[in-house]
Amino acid sequence: MSTALFTRTSAEQGSRRAPLRQGRHAVPVVENRMLAPDVYRLTFRDARIARSSSPAQFVNLYSKDPMSLLPRPFGVCEVHGDEVSLLFAVVGKGTREFSLLRAGDAIDVLGPLGNPFDLSDSAHYVLVGGGLGVPPLIYAAERLYGREDAVTTSAFGYRDVRFARDAVSPYVHHTYDITDARGNVVDLLDSIEPHLDPDRNRGLPVRILSCGPMPMMRAVAAWASPRGLACQFSLEARMACGYGTCVVCVVDTASGRKKVCSEGPVFTAQQLGWE
Ligand SMILES: Cc1cc2nc3c(=O)[nH]c(=O)nc-3n(C[C@H](O)[C@H](O)[C@H](O)COP(=O)(O)OP(=O)(O)OC[C@H]3O[C@@H](n4cnc5c(N)ncnc54)[C@H](O)[C@@H]3O)c2cc1C
Ligand code: FES
Repeated sequence: MSTALFTRTSAEQGSRRAPLRQGRHAVPVVENRMLAPDVYRLTFRDARIARSSSPAQFVNLYSKDPMSLLPRPFGVCEVHGDEVSLLFAVVGKGTREFSLLRAGDAIDVLGPLGNPFDLSDSAHYVLVGGGLGVPPLIYAAERLYGREDAVTTSAFGYRDVRFARDAVSPYVHHTYDITDARGNVVDLLDSIEPHLDPDRNRGLPVRILSCGPMPMMRAVAAWASPRGLACQFSLEARMACGYGTCVVCVVDTASGRKKVCSEGPVFTAQQLGWE
């Protein structure tokens, strides 16, 4: 199904310069490649999403099954020209269906949705990911690549599976994953802490970008807070609409309940009251 509607979110309505977001529409699949058992990299062509998406923004994918009305959200992982790639794990009915897409198929999408990471600081960006949280961090690394005022380090909590390291390593200066440390992501951060010293990284202050399971992100916040390191978290929540109308995705923050899809998914540690 294709609708040629163009919509603005309420946040966009307040900004005269914000780009128009295209409504739900069909796009052609360019490639759907299995990277590891039940992990796929889906690439589709859409010049507008490619041009307007930023790291931590996501797109809704729609099932062709009429009994499966709710879209599934996926973070944008990479953009090359007018091609947009997502990286997803098969965990249920929707992702099983998307894993069967082939080049030339059409899929309905809506996006980009949500608010991106703030990458405006000159900084050493430390990308801390786990579970399904790696894709937005790969896109952040891609966007930071080549910037003279940024150093990037990835610290990923995947066990055994190397595809995340393979995907991010072309873009980052330093890459570490859980197999480099014995334990969890916080143990990994402990083990690489000496490498984060600004004196070893052009004097640049550390900024942590993190995405993954909630307990992991809370542990990252608890690690960063006593060290005075600023953190941005891209939250995962169960979603329905994906753009602020159904109120399914609310999360408690320091200033009350917020919708993860439209007021997030990115929040600072301060905003979440995690400091
Ligand atoms: C903003 C956002 C970005 C996301 N980005 C990615 C991504 O880049 N790659 C990726 O693989 N997944 C991502 N997810 C999770 C993805 O949306 C779900 O895995 C997907 O919707 C599951 O659909 P399904 O029909 O296969 O599973 P379902 O049959 O709906 O559920 C199967 C299992 O997956 C869990 N699940 C379903 N939805 C979510 C969710 N929103 N968050 C966490 N667990 C869920 C359920 O609890 C259940 O255990 C993201 C989620 C959000 C909210
Ligand atoms: S998913 Fe509907 S308001 Fe967030």
